[in-house]
Amino acid sequence: MKIAIGNDHAAYELKHHILKYLQDKGHEVINFGVDTGERTDYPCRAEDVAKAVTSGQAERGIVICGTGVGISIAANKVHGIRCACVSEPVSARLCRAHNDCNMIAFGARIVGPQLAEAIVDAFLETEHEGGRHAERVKLIMKLEQEQTTH
Ligand code: RB5
Repeated sequence: MKIAIGNDHAAYELKHHILKYLQDKGHEVINFGVDTGERTDYPCRAEDVAKAVTSGQAERGIVICGTGVGISIAANKVHGIRCACVSEPVSARLCRAHNDCNMIAFGARIVGPQLAEAIVDAFLETEHEGGRHAERVKLIMKLEQEQTTH
């Protein structure tokens, strides 16, 4: 799968770990994050990944900051993005199955490398269930549409 990844300075070590983990599994990963502890603004890193997803450059996006919170809020401001901030694999699976999330966020100060691996596996391996869940996702996107037309 083609995956965009992004991170701020709080998360460069975990990003490197997950980037290699995904590449070893055969995924193509586009790296929009910083690779060292140099300070960067997480909303900008979220924007790069989110736009790669909405443009079709990547199928899914993964963003990491200190908590996962700021970078997920920023990603969700880009129209077409549904990004869940999670800290365990059950939510990572259900955000795909129920919410059809195209991005996921987590915090390098919250989850360790092995938990992060389980989170990305659950996110990438789960398909959207459709049905009643698809109707609710449509309602989410209708809310977004209404914000642009009012
Ligand atoms: C950076 O220090 C930190 O604020 C950021 O990584 C993130 O946790 C924000 O939500």
